[in-house]
Amino acid sequence: MSNEQPRRTFAIISHPDAGKTTLTEKLLYLGGGIRSAGTVKGKKSGKFATSDWMEIEKQRGISVTSSVMQLIYKDVQINILDTPGHEDFSEDTYRTLTAVDTAVMVIDSVKGIEAQTLKLFKVCSMRGIPILTFINKLDREGKEPLELLAEIEDVLEMETYPMNWPIGMGKTLRGIYSIPDKKIEVYNESHEREIVPYEKQQVLQSFEKEKLEEDIMLLEEAGNEFTEEKVQNGQLTPVFFGSALSSFGVQSFLDNFVQLAAEPMPRKASGEWVSPNSNTFTGFIFKIQANMNPNHRDRIAFLRICSGKFERGMEVMLSRTGKKMRLSQSHSFFASERENVDTAMPGDIIGLYDSGVFQVGDTLVNGNEMLSYEEMPQFPPEKFAKIMAKNALKHKQYHKGISQLVQEGTIQLYKTPYFEDFIIGAVGELQFQVFEYRMKNEYNTDIEFQHFSYELARWVTKGEVTDKMLDNRKMLVNDQQGRPVILFENEFTLRFFQDKYPELELSTGWELL
Ligand code: G4P
Repeated sequence: MSNEQPRRTFAIISHPDAGKTTLTEKLLYLGGGIRSAGTVKGKKSGKFATSDWMEIEKQRGISVTSSVMQLIYKDVQINILDTPGHEDFSEDTYRTLTAVDTAVMVIDSVKGIEAQTLKLFKVCSMRGIPILTFINKLDREGKEPLELLAEIEDVLEMETYPMNWPIGMGKTLRGIYSIPDKKIEVYNESHEREIVPYEKQQVLQSFEKEKLEEDIMLLEEAGNEFTEEKVQNGQLTPVFFGSALSSFGVQSFLDNFVQLAAEPMPRKASGEWVSPNSNTFTGFIFKIQANMNPNHRDRIAFLRICSGKFERGMEVMLSRTGKKMRLSQSHSFFASERENVDTAMPGDIIGLYDSGVFQVGDTLVNGNEMLSYEEMPQFPPEKFAKIMAKNALKHKQYHKGISQLVQEGTIQLYKTPYFEDFIIGAVGELQFQVFEYRMKNEYNTDIEFQHFSYELARWVTKGEVTDKMLDNRKMLVNDQQGRPVILFENEFTLRFFQDKYPELELSTGWELL
């Protein structure tokens, strides 16, 4: 970590089973020196399954937490932020995406774009970061490549540009043709990498050549124009075909990745752009994780460095409070073995021991300037439940637990207007379980849930909500800042409501940020 190599920081967005873990493993392998922090669940190899931070992860055999991995390739330090691979993903997944500069979208060639890919894609495209696409499982009978490109363009409303083109698929997979350098990467059973110039190749039969030439001509005529600028602002996604499992096309992907992924860019703090080259060290906390290691009952705050250089022992200020603190030996880089980090650069993620002073979204600055990175987006929850303490005598612990866990960003909290019942909101069901588990284990409080069937939250940004507007299909609550929010059962209920009360202005919460 003491090196000053260029950094590229990315996360993979995909639907479960598309091949994220397999691709990550292959990338780490190509990077040689691996530092893995936490989980790549490593189903088969078991090699990277180093986490099991939380008991709940073990019980469910899934990865709840995001972790950080590093590889060095072509003199570039690549930081990979893992995101939970489970369908019941949570706000952590979303927040992790605010800390990366590039996203890699893995799509299963058989299934095309799936629900979770779409959700995660939206978060990335909002930030206008480059998105590189890897269409995986070419060794299976998948959809036609042109159909897959059309799907990306239609569903994600993003231009595509294939960097390589499959020759056959599944049982008839012969190779991929690299469009920029007119070479063929030959697919073979032994998974040895074999690249030959197209004009010298001897592996394709004439009908395969014909089909390929036809496809390439079509792409040249009807395809999009490729510019690095379009890639950088997230308007166009370069598309790579391959098979992670067969290590096919993975290295070519990585070669292009180091060229096309964004370097750490200036980020906005308190209305000003802060350049990564600024001498002032700044960073923001995008995630806080408690009890990552049962042997150390502690919390770790994940900090994304945005500018300057981190040096162990440096003094920083927490912008929210103005409080100064020294980031001394208690602060470590994330590794399966906790390791101290001496220096780190923009783009890197470091783990800070947290005794309860940090909040998700906090900015740390070396200096006296009260800079604050743009507020961490609150993501619209989709699951809601009313909660109560099972044992009323545990009142104090119950309140303490809720307030701390909400502060950490574990869950979103709302209250009903009159009785001030606690309603919690989450992006995924799993967040409820983590919350319940932690209330019990850390605050010794059993909680009871009453699950609601609401799925949508809308902030009322204009107009007054009256009792007569509400019924059992919608519910009025207040968020933590006391802003009114209506919970709706589904899109239909919402639309009906909007038609009936056009005087009310409703927002998803995104625009409030
Ligand atoms: P995820 O992290 O996105 O959830 O996916 P993961 O890498 O775990 O891959 C999901 C399954 O797909 C795995 O099968 C994996 O071996 C397989 N897979 C990944 N890449 C390829 C590929 O290029 N071609 C083919 N044919 N399969 C691929 P698994 O371990 O057997 O798990 P499962 O199928 O029992 O879930």
